[in-house]
Amino acid sequence: MKVSSVLCMKGGNGDTSYAANSILQHKTIMLTMPITEEAITSLYFNLNPCPASLKIADLGCSSGPNTLLVVSQLIKKICKIRRKTNKISSPEIQIYLNDLPGNDFNSVFKSLSSFNEGMRNEVGSDLFGNCFFNGVPGSFYDRLFPINSLHFVHSSYSLMWLSQVPDGIGGNKGNICCSRRSPKCVVKAYFKQFQKDFSVFLKCRSVELVAGGYMVLTIFGRKIVDPSCLIWELLGNTLQDMVSEGLIKEEKLHSFNVPLYTPSLDELKSIIENDGTFQIHRLETSSVNWNFNDNIISNSFLSNGTNKYEDEYDDDGYNLAKCMRSVAEPIILNHFGEEMIEKVFYRYKEKISDYMAKHTAKFINVSVTLSKRKRC
Ligand SMILES: C[S@@+](CC[C@H](N)C(=O)[O-])C[C@H]1O[C@@H](n2cnc3c(N)ncnc32)[C@H](O)[C@@H]1O
Repeated sequence: MKVSSVLCMKGGNGDTSYAANSILQHKTIMLTMPITEEAITSLYFNLNPCPASLKIADLGCSSGPNTLLVVSQLIKKICKIRRKTNKISSPEIQIYLNDLPGNDFNSVFKSLSSFNEGMRNEVGSDLFGNCFFNGVPGSFYDRLFPINSLHFVHSSYSLMWLSQVPDGIGGNKGNICCSRRSPKCVVKAYFKQFQKDFSVFLKCRSVELVAGGYMVLTIFGRKIVDPSCLIWELLGNTLQDMVSEGLIKEEKLHSFNVPLYTPSLDELKSIIENDGTFQIHRLETSSVNWNFNDNIISNSFLSNGTNKYEDEYDDDGYNLAKCMRSVAEPIILNHFGEEMIEKVFYRYKEKISDYMAKHTAKFINVSVTLSKRKRC
């Protein structure tokens, strides 16, 4: 599987699209927003001289409401600081939205004029000022920006995706990622790939960020030593059931592996320290429940302060299954074909509901705030 040409979230705004089913990732963005706001504030006060244009990148932006959510919060924060410090007119803001080339950038670009209008109404034209948007298609495991050109990098729920399925995982039969049944060598191979990819990521960004530039990265990770990834393991079990029922050929399942690794805090820390270019300001975990209704949704989700999702998300795994479908459908479709899609996701939903009826499960987020050392 060539990850960069296959991986994308389901585009458009339809019922099974990522745009309509990314509430979980939304919660993570809002949960970690104080960290992001703290970092942009530190950056703003530490930049000396203040640049004419502040360059901000969101890596793995996808499409849908989350794409411009971080950007809108950052702009609001910057405007607030400007108002406080009486620096109304400067700097201009340049936003770079990055994702793989298969991402639905068109939907993002189409939403920009209403976004701009909304921002102008909310913060005022004088403060919103000049804000320029750029789409940057490409892998964040490559160089994406000119040398010393970025001031702030944000990325949420993207860096657990690897650049490739690790080599040497032929023994992972019956599993599609790191699972509790995976042999040790498979787990090692997944970690090695993550280590390599995340190091490359840091190298690229260290070239592109100005000295003192900040990064806030939130990754779907884990707290425990066991590196298995339960939500994907349940998808693997679903596919294994379909093999047992003769619906999917065994070899077809064996040749399917998901390029995803959920790192722990310690793993991230050691890779960052080995790289040596960044100073760690924060390194922490947070969590979001699988049961959407258990999570308190920030009021800032809706501009009128109401929470329309309270009733809508009272469910038994139905919404999590839809969320996972919007993430996994393109790669399942690519490997197993269109005729399998409804069958796979119907069964996957049953598996998730069954698990949630017996257990309370959470997604763990690992967040890190870094700044590029002045001399490296
Ligand atoms: C789960 S989505 C998260 C999107 C958004 N940040 C959010 O929080 O809702 C992960 C995104 O990362 C993108 N992605 C994965 N690997 C990537 C890579 N190597 N370079 C750029 N984007 C990548 C995927 O295409 C996808 O849109």
